[in-house]
Amino acid sequence: MSVTQLRPGTASTPPPRATSGSLLQKKLARQPISALTAYDYPSARLVDEAGIDMVLVGDSLGMVVLGYENTLPVTLDEMLHHTRAVARAVRRAFLVADMPYGSYHASPRDAVRNGLRFIKEAGAQAVKIEGGSSRARLVRRLTEAEVPVVGHIGLTPQSVHSMGGYRVQGTSLDAMHRLSADARALEEAGAIAIVLEGMPRELAAEITAESSIPTIGIGAGPDCDGQILVFHDLFNLTFSPPAKFARRYADGAAFFASALAQYRDDVATHNFPSDAESYHLSREVKLGFEAAMEAARPRVRKA
Ligand code: KIV
Repeated sequence: MSVTQLRPGTASTPPPRATSGSLLQKKLARQPISALTAYDYPSARLVDEAGIDMVLVGDSLGMVVLGYENTLPVTLDEMLHHTRAVARAVRRAFLVADMPYGSYHASPRDAVRNGLRFIKEAGAQAVKIEGGSSRARLVRRLTEAEVPVVGHIGLTPQSVHSMGGYRVQGTSLDAMHRLSADARALEEAGAIAIVLEGMPRELAAEITAESSIPTIGIGAGPDCDGQILVFHDLFNLTFSPPAKFARRYADGAAFFASALAQYRDDVATHNFPSDAESYHLSREVKLGFEAAMEAARPRVRKA
């Protein structure tokens, strides 16, 4: 058993909650928006308490937490489960949840029903879906159903097979025009923000300048309105070399490995737990216990 100290109750005044409006205000004031993924209660609390503006329960969950090869197998139930855990932790940041592959592709009716679950059951403030112009009608449907939508264009991991791998997008003039048109279509359909992933800096800068909604970049250069990274990339917890854009802020793997080796050795050498880390009987109970043990001990008769 281990006890996590949950948030104090209603006595403390909660900090003001970020909204799509406050994110837009940051864009207009040219204040960069910080965003990070989180998938569970402790990491979400750390991210929220660090003052990050937006928390995304990304379907990168599948790769960095659940050990899948890509994001495609992630289920709606898995995303809802992790979004609920994150929602219990987040007080300040704007909370966005990824709709997983297959949850918005079959029919608009199912997509809206699934999107509503993230808001109603899991506590997200918006959902994110991948794709550009081809998703514009769906973005409109979701928005009309009071499900705010963050778009995601460029390198869209759910399209790994149609892209032929994870490749930087928008590198030809044609592709640049298509991605600019995608961003416009999403904005016109009502998206509240757009993630720009894996595209040349120049293109992301152009889309950002043309958009009236915030752009949040990942591998898209410094000119976006905000930046997002995957939590596990920040802390070297992915067991793989980082992508070019993923700056490591701490070596979590080395930190954990050294603590784990220390724990293993302490157990092996009887250094853990110490007497101070053990519970003890009270003096009274101890005396009674020792007397009872003594009385129960078999006596050897003298001949
Ligand atoms: O799933 C995810 O983590 C994402 C971010 C990389 C934007 O979509």
